Amino acid sequence: MNDKQSIKDAYGTYLVPTYAPALTLVRGEGMHVWDEGGKEYLDFLAGIAVLCLGHAHPAWVEAVREQAGVLTHVSNLHAHPLQAKLARALTEKFVPGSRVFFSNSGAEANEALIKVARKWGSASGRHEIITMKNSFHGRTLATLTATGQEKVQTGFAPLPTGFSYATFNDIASVKALVTDQTVAILLEVIQAEGGVVPGDVEFLHEVEALCHDRDLLLLIDDVQCGMGRLGTWFGFQAYGLRPDAFSLAKGLGGGFPIGAMVASPKLAEVLQPGTHGTTYGGNALACAAALAVLETIEKEALLNRTQAMGERFRNALTAMMPEFPFITEVRGMGWLIGVVLDRPAKPLEARMFQEGLIAVATAGNVIRFVPPLIAEEADVDEAVARFRAACRAWKTEQEPMEK
Ligand SMILES: Cc1ncc(COP(=O)(O)O)c(C=O)c1O
Repeated sequence: MNDKQSIKDAYGTYLVPTYAPALTLVRGEGMHVWDEGGKEYLDFLAGIAVLCLGHAHPAWVEAVREQAGVLTHVSNLHAHPLQAKLARALTEKFVPGSRVFFSNSGAEANEALIKVARKWGSASGRHEIITMKNSFHGRTLATLTATGQEKVQTGFAPLPTGFSYATFNDIASVKALVTDQTVAILLEVIQAEGGVVPGDVEFLHEVEALCHDRDLLLLIDDVQCGMGRLGTWFGFQAYGLRPDAFSLAKGLGGGFPIGAMVASPKLAEVLQPGTHGTTYGGNALACAAALAVLETIEKEALLNRTQAMGERFRNALTAMMPEFPFITEVRGMGWLIGVVLDRPAKPLEARMFQEGLIAVATAGNVIRFVPPLIAEEADVDEAVARFRAACRAWKTEQEPMEK
């Protein structure tokens, strides 16, 4: 890369083209981020539901900076003081006697979920996991197979066996897939990448009851819904569910890569020495970042704020619907909100960038908003104003074509 080459051109030259980045961002602070030309954006994407404390939160920066100068990494062959502290904090928010395995990402946390289910099932000769169509669980071979979307799987055959796909929010379709080989049901309470599709409360409880009746494990992928995003510590708590195990990542590190598989007492000791592992998972720096996230969420009462601000945003978006007939639905909970359009959402995403608002077009026709949990009333109102401006500009652009 020479000095004259733009960052985007360098991406085009040196990176495997799995992504086509839209903006080049160079600095962030709180709810805001700036591109290489100095343009400011309100960040309602938060690195895809990662930056729950926003950019460069002083408590997070201080924790990471301090830990970097003390101890960053010892591998998991040795202990350090922060891993058990973080695990304890997470289990205290779940159930006593639960235990944690730390990973580096959401996909790895889900791999651990899949492995724990298979290991537990091996005692009774069961291994099949039912997942949901339209779900998203990651890009490793096992997690892309768990993902109920063909487009994620195409070209990667042969895929691991032992997964089947039910229709989300259709309990009959789940029941129809249970066999004497079934060991677990894995789902997200709100399908985020799938277009912010909320699980019906009744459906989710029927799944839980089915798991109890048929001695199946209830596994929840809380990678996107967890860490306060739905206004509760874990997304499934907003629905009153109690899974046998669940996965976390994204918001857990607030921008530092860390994931976790949290196993209830029933599964807490299934994975024994030599059955699973990772070099980096839960290293001291990652744990310091995650502890700063947990402490700050508590200290700044961000769970309550998430509920209040998410509702304010949802209501304002819903109120915009009469002006913009191309918006057909506003859905979601807390700070996981989808605006459903009657047409592809990508061009509106680009319009939003022009107005200084970052969110993401998802599942074809949905704009997904997953801002930092620190958003205040003024941020919400500014985001609404910028979204309205983008919709107005887009509407004007669309009208000639519609005639
Ligand atoms: C629900 C869910 N599970 C798993 C993943 C995969 O996480 P990662 O990209 O950290 O591997 C994602 C990522 O978007 C997700 O939304």
